[in-house]
Amino acid sequence: MPAKEQFSPVTEAALTSLRAAVGAANLRTDSEAQELYASDETEDFVFTPEVVVFPTTTEAVSRVMQIAWRHNFPVTPRAGGTGLSGGALPLHGGIVLSIERLNRILEIDTKNLMAVVEPGVITQELQEAVEKVGLYYPPDPASRGSCRLGGNLAESAGGPHAVKYGVTKDYVMGIEAVLPDGTIVHHGGKLLKNATGYNLTQLVIGSEGTLAVITKIFLKLLSLPTHRTTLFVPFPSLESAAATVPAIMNAGITPAALEFMERDAIQITEKHLGIRIPNSDAAAHLLIELDGDEESLIQRSAERVCEIALQQGASDVLLAESSAKQEELWNMRRAAGEAVKSLSVYKEEDTVVPRNNIVPLIVGVKEIAKRHGITTVCYGHAGDGNLHVNILKMNMTEKRWQESLDPAIREIFELTVALGGTISGEHGIGYSQKGYLCIAYSQDEIELMRRIKHAFDPKGILNPGKIFPDKPPESS
Ligand code: LAC
Ligand code: ZN
Repeated sequence: MPAKEQFSPVTEAALTSLRAAVGAANLRTDSEAQELYASDETEDFVFTPEVVVFPTTTEAVSRVMQIAWRHNFPVTPRAGGTGLSGGALPLHGGIVLSIERLNRILEIDTKNLMAVVEPGVITQELQEAVEKVGLYYPPDPASRGSCRLGGNLAESAGGPHAVKYGVTKDYVMGIEAVLPDGTIVHHGGKLLKNATGYNLTQLVIGSEGTLAVITKIFLKLLSLPTHRTTLFVPFPSLESAAATVPAIMNAGITPAALEFMERDAIQITEKHLGIRIPNSDAAAHLLIELDGDEESLIQRSAERVCEIALQQGASDVLLAESSAKQEELWNMRRAAGEAVKSLSVYKEEDTVVPRNNIVPLIVGVKEIAKRHGITTVCYGHAGDGNLHVNILKMNMTEKRWQESLDPAIREIFELTVALGGTISGEHGIGYSQKGYLCIAYSQDEIELMRRIKHAFDPKGILNPGKIFPDKPPESS
């Protein structure tokens, strides 16, 4: 991968070509734009781009990539900028290629239950558009009000409803994309099956903008469930809450969501939003949603979930049947990340283990945190075995923070892998986690991924510095 000095600075002459490629109104070099596109939602990283372009067509994306390819400019694709692993940070300056103006819903095909969209569509806008015609696009990252589908594909984003409905990749049936040299490629389409050659769609999904720029997306839709009910259940210990997760699933019930929040996560969110959450002093809560088309079936499942939770030690069960009450609970849950972030300098981990190992993961994380003297606040998609571990600096000295953080994260990840898991379930590796990739994969496996990267991007201009650990400088 080229080092920074192998890239060329974006000259005035190149800016003129870029302006012609995207239209003068779709290019910014002002300091406000440079500041806006220097960060995403990952901690407090700042990397300033030289120029931000906003192509409005696939052909314009292709023209931008041709220019970058010719001149060796680094290009960082960006969608909503809500990522949590630094995938959209322009580490080497150069061009930020924002797809936010490629934002049309091209088609909602109610006969084939497919949507065709551009990558700049905001996830919630697609969800609301398909709901109007009785259809459902389930993947719902907490940032769904501002994240964009292109970014969801790049990170294979998840969300609470993944436990029943799967993550972004499970809905993408095809893409159009632009390769680093500007070539436009297509794969898949409105197809539920496709056994024709390599699955390039799924290779590009989750590749964090390092292989190609996605310019069109074919998404599978479902019919919208007509009923849903939500339970909010306090538990006296982390273990009893976590143990309830496999107990529910093993009883043959598949909730639409099965979320875990420990006490600190609830109380920090309560304070951040200025609201009162019932039983907020309980050690942990599960937020459980059941959905379907048969109200009586949902009711029976809800009763069974209550029984299981009470058997596992739940101290109460709160039922939210009205959509207003359900929305209140979900707004609280979605605000957890931003609430934790507003409290302290922090680093967020995205551990995932086989669901049945969620108890040893939570117990193990707390034991590691105690030993390293760090504060952790945990919440996440327990039904998927996916736990977000937020490590907070709080009032630690900078020196102690720097000394404790990395060894603690390594131990948490080693535990995760020992439990059969991996180091990111839905946030990606991007920039902030690349130093830990070798905990999840062998050198041979990482090398194979590097070869795939090289096949797509031999010059290494597309989103450089992401996913792969930095190679140690060669000794001369
Ligand atoms: C959430 C984000 C952080 O689950 O993934 O809230
Ligand atoms: Zn999450």
